[in-house]
Amino acid sequence: MQTVANFNFAGKKALVRVDFNVPLNDRFEITDDTRIKATIPTIQKILKDGGSVVLMSHLGRPKDGPVEKYSLKHLVTPLSLVFGVKVKFTSDCISDEAVELANGLQAGEILLIENLRFYKEEEKGDVDFAQKLARLGNVWVNDAFGTAHRAHASTAVIGQFFTDKVSGYVMQAELDNAQKILEYAERPFTAIMGGSKISDKILIIERLLDKVDNLIIGGGMTYTFSLAEGGKIGKSISEPDKVELAKELIEKAKAKGVNLIMPLDNVCADDFNNNANRQTVERGCIPDGWEGLDIGPKSVALFQETIAKSKTILWNGPMGVFEFSNFAIGTNAIADAVVKATEENGAFSLIGGGDSASAVNNAGYGDRVSYVSTGGGALLEYMEGKTLPGVAALEA
Ligand code: 3PG
Ligand code: MG
Repeated sequence: MQTVANFNFAGKKALVRVDFNVPLNDRFEITDDTRIKATIPTIQKILKDGGSVVLMSHLGRPKDGPVEKYSLKHLVTPLSLVFGVKVKFTSDCISDEAVELANGLQAGEILLIENLRFYKEEEKGDVDFAQKLARLGNVWVNDAFGTAHRAHASTAVIGQFFTDKVSGYVMQAELDNAQKILEYAERPFTAIMGGSKISDKILIIERLLDKVDNLIIGGGMTYTFSLAEGGKIGKSISEPDKVELAKELIEKAKAKGVNLIMPLDNVCADDFNNNANRQTVERGCIPDGWEGLDIGPKSVALFQETIAKSKTILWNGPMGVFEFSNFAIGTNAIADAVVKATEENGAFSLIGGGDSASAVNNAGYGDRVSYVSTGGGALLEYMEGKTLPGVAALEA
């Protein structure tokens, strides 16, 4: 695979696929710019070599053509500040105007094109659309790890129209770090899996059972495990049709000698809001009318103890409903423990994208763990052992 590091962009026009699918508030301000900042090294390298950059991305999931809410024009000013160059913009990603602006770019200049998903051809992986996009550059750089699990026009199909296909620094770092965890983990290796559904995590959990020493389970999916053990979960979130699966996972962990660690206690609430009444109960003892929204203090202590003894830590998914401050205590405590293990014991810690990444970034811990992935679904699929179309296109 060609990489940004070993490619000379002098005189080249790089068409760079980035994942700028970032959260915006009601005033269209970016509330987490991690994915943008992550691309600085790639963009700077191209510009420093004497190349120019055409940036392309999706934003959100627009279903039917252009919508204000998902316009990438909201990113123009923030991007200009981040890259230190006044970023140009074109409001249609495949128009003649876009091609003219791209052709007119001088070395050191950046053009951002409008949201690719304003054309349904993007998600369909339409070949003609990909070919039209390909007119915007003479080198294709894919730095959109977060979208690499999609076989879309700009993430994969477009590759066939370029002789020079180059992976960006974000793509490279993501793949290197994921590989480090999967193939070269120093022991003890602890995976912490959270989030609400077993069904989202089943494949990765099964794969990890062949690799980890400890598997900590937290978040909403613990209630399905509780059902599997015959526990009471009140009105907690659960997947009754996955109870058998949970039982199988418990058996598999035993057979493989993996230490499966579940919460000892839960903080539950009588309503789904931050100010609901709270009580802490033992696992599997949630009263009727109550729902588990966080792990309790005994679980925190147990999880922290395991994390402190680990040399490799993979964390994906929150321990509770961390968007509510009263139920973020477990998630924040795990973030603390992971930071501590990293800084004090030299553990290698990888935080999977999505909610756990926001939890770590919101706590200001982004720089105090080994790596925070910019990918949610993409990281999971890569770790499940799937081929990512965005990566395969670079290798073809
Ligand atoms: C993400 O945020 O997960 C990526 O940008 C991919 O977006 P998608 O799930 O809408 O394809
Ligand atoms: Mg997604």
